[in-house]
Amino acid sequence: MNIINVNASKDYRVIVGFGILHHLGEQLRTQYTDCKVAVVTDSNVAFHHLAVANESLTSAGFQVHTFAFPAGEPSKTADTFLQILNFLADNHFTRSDLIIALGGGVVGDITGFAAACYLRGIPYIQIPTTLLAMVDSSVGGKTAIDLPAGKNLAGAFYQPAMVLCDIDTLATLPEDVFRDGCAEVIKYGILYDCDLFAHLSEKGFNFDRQYVITRCIELKRDVVAEDEFDTGLRQKLNLGHTIGHAIEANSSYQITHGSAVAAGIAIISRAAAAWQHCTWDTSRRIISVLSAFHLPTKCPFSSEQLYHSMLSDKKRFGKTVNLIIPNAIGNCNIIPVAVEQLQSFIEAGM
Ligand SMILES: NC(=O)c1ccc[n+]([C@@H]2O[C@H](COP(=O)([O-])OP(=O)(O)OC[C@H]3O[C@@H](n4cnc5c(N)ncnc54)[C@H](O)[C@@H]3O)[C@@H](O)[C@H]2O)c1
Ligand SMILES: [Zn+2]
Repeated sequence: MNIINVNASKDYRVIVGFGILHHLGEQLRTQYTDCKVAVVTDSNVAFHHLAVANESLTSAGFQVHTFAFPAGEPSKTADTFLQILNFLADNHFTRSDLIIALGGGVVGDITGFAAACYLRGIPYIQIPTTLLAMVDSSVGGKTAIDLPAGKNLAGAFYQPAMVLCDIDTLATLPEDVFRDGCAEVIKYGILYDCDLFAHLSEKGFNFDRQYVITRCIELKRDVVAEDEFDTGLRQKLNLGHTIGHAIEANSSYQITHGSAVAAGIAIISRAAAAWQHCTWDTSRRIISVLSAFHLPTKCPFSSEQLYHSMLSDKKRFGKTVNLIIPNAIGNCNIIPVAVEQLQSFIEAGM
């Protein structure tokens, strides 16, 4: 078991290990007494993991209420958000009670936002059950719901009281969802850590779960400690995402987030080599690790189509678009690219 301490506006621990869900009740008993627990989850995660969590919590003496909504991004709405708030109110939850988000990034984001808003803030614990949620969304306190106008348009920065990553829960994850998470893991290696990158290149899907998940969380922890409210360095976590979002949008969200990000990383790394920000060898190594994880390194859209989507992206600042560009494995920079140069820059990476 590894413990990572996060120092943000609230300090908390992230625990990474095996069998954590089975010992959830005992684990929480060390910190919480006489409180009610609301477990919020989705239909898939409820099927695989809710019974174990509930059994452990009730055996430890907690009074447990559960709320499960239909799995998937379409549930990350104001409607589900209100249902969660009403569920908490109907069951008389107070600020001395506790909410648990048991699931992937969708559950974590919407539950975190409900926790931030209910009674102006009630403690919540993240128990991420996807690789993406473990290494990315559960740590750092960004919570959100989608609006009809776009993804994550309403939300809050609200740090959890604790994050528990039970690696065993990944066993039930569909292969494509796991692969999507791998794109984010590879992203951390390219951004910050050539040893992590080398491990992923060597081991492929057989990477050491405990080492890799812990390392990614440590890296995210460092970014959050430096830029909790996303005004500067946290932008680096968008490596591959500006182009990735354009790919997702052009595909009407038929291409998954991880696949789109992987193609985005590949395009940006080829463009970086062509514009001499990095060597062609660096770009080839990035593309080779993405391929080893069966992630796409090309996209079916033209540079013109991507360019038009990128201009409507919320991360655009005036006449430039900030792109995260690799200089070497483990070292990337935020580079503002002029809007007039953007399409030819992308074209160089296609
Ligand atoms: N807050 C942040 O910092 C942050 C960062 C990145 C992404 N996100 C958000 O995260 C979301 C994506 O997260 P995700 O990829 O985890 O998606 P998700 O929560 O939709 O999970 C993907 C699928 O896997 C299923 N699932 C989850 N855990 C499972 C398990 N252990 N066994 C079987 N099935 C399981 C889910 O039911 C779902 O069908 C997006 O909404 C995105 O905006 C937030
Ligand atoms: Zn992402």
